[in-house]
Amino acid sequence: MSTEVLHHENRLFSPDPSFVAQANVSGMEAYHALCAEARQDPDAFWGRLAKENLYWQRPFTKVLDESNPPFFKWFEDGLTNASYNCLERQIQKGNAQKTAILFEADDGSVTSITYQALYARVCRFANGLKALGVGKGDRVVIYIPMSIEGVVAMQACARIGATHSVVFGGFSAKSLQERIVDVGATALITADEQRRGGKSLPLKTIVDEALALGGCEALKTVVIYQRTGGNIPFVAGRDHWMHAVEEGQPETCEPEWVSAEHPLFVLYTSGSTGKPKGVQHSTGGYLLWASLTMTWVFDIKPADVFWCTADIGWVTGHSYIAYGPLAVGATQVVFEGVPTYPNAGRFWDMIARHGVTVFYTAPTAIRSLIKASDADPAAHPRNFNLSTLRLLGSVGEPINPEAWMWYYKNVGHERCPIVDTFWQTETGGHMITPLPGATPLVPGSCTLPLPGIEAAIVDETGHDMPNGQGGILVVKRPWPAMIRTIWGDPERFQKSYYPAELQGYYLAGDGAIRDEKSGYFTITGRIDDVLNVSGHRMGTMEIESALVANPLVAEAAVVGRPDDMTGEAIVAYVVLKQARPEGDEAKKIATELRNWVGKEIGPIAKPKEIRFGDNLPKTRSGKIMRRLLRVIAKGDEVTQDISTLENPAILSQLKETL
Ligand code: WTA
Repeated sequence: MSTEVLHHENRLFSPDPSFVAQANVSGMEAYHALCAEARQDPDAFWGRLAKENLYWQRPFTKVLDESNPPFFKWFEDGLTNASYNCLERQIQKGNAQKTAILFEADDGSVTSITYQALYARVCRFANGLKALGVGKGDRVVIYIPMSIEGVVAMQACARIGATHSVVFGGFSAKSLQERIVDVGATALITADEQRRGGKSLPLKTIVDEALALGGCEALKTVVIYQRTGGNIPFVAGRDHWMHAVEEGQPETCEPEWVSAEHPLFVLYTSGSTGKPKGVQHSTGGYLLWASLTMTWVFDIKPADVFWCTADIGWVTGHSYIAYGPLAVGATQVVFEGVPTYPNAGRFWDMIARHGVTVFYTAPTAIRSLIKASDADPAAHPRNFNLSTLRLLGSVGEPINPEAWMWYYKNVGHERCPIVDTFWQTETGGHMITPLPGATPLVPGSCTLPLPGIEAAIVDETGHDMPNGQGGILVVKRPWPAMIRTIWGDPERFQKSYYPAELQGYYLAGDGAIRDEKSGYFTITGRIDDVLNVSGHRMGTMEIESALVANPLVAEAAVVGRPDDMTGEAIVAYVVLKQARPEGDEAKKIATELRNWVGKEIGPIAKPKEIRFGDNLPKTRSGKIMRRLLRVIAKGDEVTQDISTLENPAILSQLKETL
């Protein structure tokens, strides 16, 4: 990683004194004081914060149980409920009539719901789920568009102690089925269809396809939110309309008091090997971190209007839509549509209309909106009144300094700090990020770890690397919102995140470097076979497995190459069972294979480029040399040693693009 990236324009952007004065964590001294408190006595630190930030039906007597690493337990004998913390507790604090959610549909229509009304809806739906036989410990898959109903579904599960597993609405029937089977779901909540960019897209039909694939016999109940009124198949006895399930149910529902360690949710994410893994999160530790990071990183105050543009199908939508904002009593915008419909000014127009103060989005969205507003000047943020904004955030992938500067100048008017938040599905919430009223900003750097997070950069044996030298990102001590296990596979959990050679440190899977002087962290990208395309995580092996499942394909190798717009792009090298195709035939088969991957996994996994070869570059022992494939995917010359390569001639063939 070049130092040029670390010191773009050689500038530090220090927070405005008026921002610092008002901030929840005000100034670097306050940040350092919290870090010192955490380091001196971690149990006292986390114990204090857990008591101050959450309601406990029965207080915990022990903060951290480290007796069986890496299976750490936090606040285990404490009883709480995530939905109670997000709803009743807000009403008790005087937020009953405050708007909880401002929902904007794809077509621009707006529905708002107060904390009181949201509480009533969640209770009615929770009672309805109970009447259908769903209860504590059951797993419920949620496959639903962005909607108030999506949040209601998640909150209702939390309320009755059912563990939800949300599957992003862009995943295919096969991906959905695999998750239903792996998590052992007995109920599923979906919608008839979803609306995106002016179009209706199927959901319930895909659910039926998934169930028809078999293995889902444990699933007895499907609840359908009627979003579009489109024509859908309806299986009597199994399928129920959401409104019918809620109808006639009481507007109160005693929460199921669960141990802080009770699994609030399982969320599937890609790893470097095998099938996606079900990341299991807790209730108490998870919710504590979601609330704390809302307060510290998003600096949330009572008058804020918060907007996180993520989908509830990803972890960002869990922590910063379904739970975090409600746990701190904030008003938030929830958006159904896409940033480019009806035009690329949609985000800026919505910020202006809803008076958004804190805005959180992904670098890939920023980059595509930069491009779109070059093409369509009317979509440029300068045309909109963005004066309510006071804080901006970024998540999901490294933000390149150019996109950072554009965001800072054109959206934040050089007035709003940008919090570049580094974290992962496994971490539950932010890990390394600026605090907006404290940390001087450097474009492209996620700066410093949050208090209590002992992030470090080490070599392959777990020894600290000096600043200025890149290495492996680890977290040395457990933290409350950390992944508890991989659902049903504790061994894989241990192997993936706590490999023996790393001395008991959590392995993030990213490379990073710290600046020599400031100690600021910059993430240099994944060190495993995980790709990040438009902020979506994908395993190369998953895509390879999908490709070789096609009857035409003999062998496939997938790599990432840098892409200006999507961060990384998927390049697939394919060997067919038939002779290597050329010309139009090659193009036709490539299209067929891209669509195939779309069907197997989902459109987000479609390779951007497919190249055909008679073979793949392999060592004499038959191992595919991926590093060479990465080099030629970029269009670079191979300068590495290829003496171990069995078939060097294959490289020139694989350089050819269609
Ligand atoms: C990447 C999303 C650089 C990283 C919350 C990580 C980032 C993976 C950043 C997790 C950031 C996320 N800067 N890289 N601010 N945020 N990443 O699980 O590679 O979908 O390991 O969680 O995204 O992706 P996930």
